[in-house]
Amino acid sequence: MQHSTTYIVGFSIVVCVVCALFVASAEVSLRPLKELNARLDKQKNILSVAGLMQPGEDLDAEQIRVLFENSIQPRMIDLSTGEEDVSIDPTSFDQRAAARDPARSRRASSNPSKILRVPNQALIYEVIKNDEITSIIIPIEGYGLWSVLYGYLALAPDMRTILGITYYDQKETAGLGGEVENPNWKAKWVGRKAFDERGRVKIAVRKGPAGPPDKDPYGVDGLSGATITSRGVTNMLQFWLGGEGFGPYLSRLRDANAGA
Ligand SMILES: Cc1cc2nc3c(=O)[nH]c(=O)nc-3n(C[C@H](O)[C@H](O)[C@H](O)COP(=O)(O)O)c2cc1C
Repeated sequence: MQHSTTYIVGFSIVVCVVCALFVASAEVSLRPLKELNARLDKQKNILSVAGLMQPGEDLDAEQIRVLFENSIQPRMIDLSTGEEDVSIDPTSFDQRAAARDPARSRRASSNPSKILRVPNQALIYEVIKNDEITSIIIPIEGYGLWSVLYGYLALAPDMRTILGITYYDQKETAGLGGEVENPNWKAKWVGRKAFDERGRVKIAVRKGPAGPPDKDPYGVDGLSGATITSRGVTNMLQFWLGGEGFGPYLSRLRDANAGA
């Protein structure tokens, strides 16, 4: 049996509309689940950079939520003064959205991480153990080769010693720049110094291997075959630990610690 052209076109349109409705409703109904998974993944990364979750450790969503709530204290920081800003609720703060909003951000000076705007406020995390702050976790982001890499850096209470680094969102090449997620590489950061005694940002990813932390406190092994991503990591740390990023906040904490 032969169908008319009108029938074939009409049938195709009906099939397209049904499929589009199906895809759209799947997208809408799965959105809360996607958001929950993204939040869980962030919390996992924060716990792992805080040393509260080991590589390969498998905790369920409830265990992650409880561990996070019991040991991590989010705080909003005004980046230009370095002081806490209690007027913003950290639980609903979206730093990427804030950085895009001209009312809540400012233009960054030209920088190799290609960061165009800096939010006025940023979300950091205190790691609490026995009522004491054992670490401060700051968000970091910047260009590698193909993508913006998003991650966290954990600093010890002296605000110089690195306790960990992690990346939770990046699109560098697996096996090359993607090795920023390799636990062996991340382990090489622990004990290195982000700043020298005078508070200048010194940490850098070397081209090739770095020395041991006592001989080369400011160096970390380069990722082989991924010099551009490695340089991106150095650049973003220079930016976020510097004056336009968390520099004022970290230097206030360093001064407070020195005076204590
Ligand atoms: C398919 C492909 C993917 C690559 N992915 C990356 C990458 O993710 N990060 C990176 O720095 N370099 C990557 N490179 C290599 C860069 O183009 C560049 O050659 C390299 O960063 C130089 O590093 P090297 O001096 O250690 O060889 C890639 C190259 C190719 C051909």
